[in-house]
Parts: sequence; C-alpha cells; structure tokens
Amino acid sequence: MQRTFAVIKPDAFAAGFQGKIISAIQESGLKVVAMKTLLLSERQAKGFYHVHAERPFFGDLVKFMTEGPILAMVLEGDDAIKRWRDLMGPTNAAEAPSTTLRGQFGTNIERNATHGSDAEDTAAFEIGYFFSGLELAR
Ligand code: TYD
Repeated sequence: MQRTFAVIKPDAFAAGFQGKIISAIQESGLKVVAMKTLLLSERQAKGFYHVHAERPFFGDLVKFMTEGPILAMVLEGDDAIKRWRDLMGPTNAAEAPSTTLRGQFGTNIERNATHGSDAEDTAAFEIGYFFSGLELAR
C-alpha cells in the first residue's frame, strides 16, 4: 500500500472539474484518504514547489498556483504514485492524450489541471506539507 499527494489546481477547480476528477480517482480504484480546499499564499506555493525555485517558469507557476483555490488530496492504493501519474498524463496538457485528466481538463504545460507526486520522497514531503498526522490517522 502506498500514499501519494494529489492536487486539483486553480484552473480545474475554477472550472468546476472537482467532481469529475474525484470520480476518475475512485473509478481507478485509488482511495481518497484526506481532502481539503485551500487558497495558497505566495509563500506557501513557493514552499510546495521549492525544488523548482531556480527554473525559469517558477514565478509564473507560483502566480498560477495562487490565483484561486485548490483541492489537496492524499490518495492511497497499491503503486498509488505511478497510478495517479498515469491517470493525470504528461505535464504538457496540450500534448496529453484525451484519455488522461490533463488531456481532458488542462490547457498547456503550466495550466495542467492536476499535480501528483513523482516519487516516494516527494510524496512524503508533500503529504506532510499539507496534512497533519491527525488528518491522516486511519
Ligand atoms: P514537473 O515536476 O516537471 O511536472 P509534473 O507536474 O508533471 O511532475 O513541473 C512541475 C510543474 O511546473 C508542472 O506541473 C507545471 C509547471 N511547469 C511549467 O509551468 N513550465 C514548464 O516548462 C515545466 C517543465 C513545468
């Protein structure tokens, strides 16, 4: 059993795709074990994406992630990290297959609807950044 961190980003949240995305998660067999809506501050968004701090797109990415509310989730299941990333599709939503969430609900490489941890160590950091132990006790 593995846990991963998932986000419905401001573009997909504002467009009202929460229900469709949560349905897709549940139909895939992954379980939503924690969930909350929040509006990130600039400081919080920078902390979340700190590994990208030196990348040229960092400023725009932080602006996008703070433009409106997001839905943060913890997903659980066998091989959850890879399964959630497969469901999301590639980073660039403009090139993502229409069978993937980014292909269906995203626009381009920045406004790509969803986030998913890419490895066990990033999942652990990201889950702990957004959720407390109490919220994750099952
Ligand atoms: P990355 O970790 O490469 O992608 P993924 O989200 O698929 O793991 O990048 C993190 C986010 O940064 C990505 O979801 C969208 C944004 N981003 C850009 O805005 N421009 C870019 O050129 C890249 C590579 C990413």
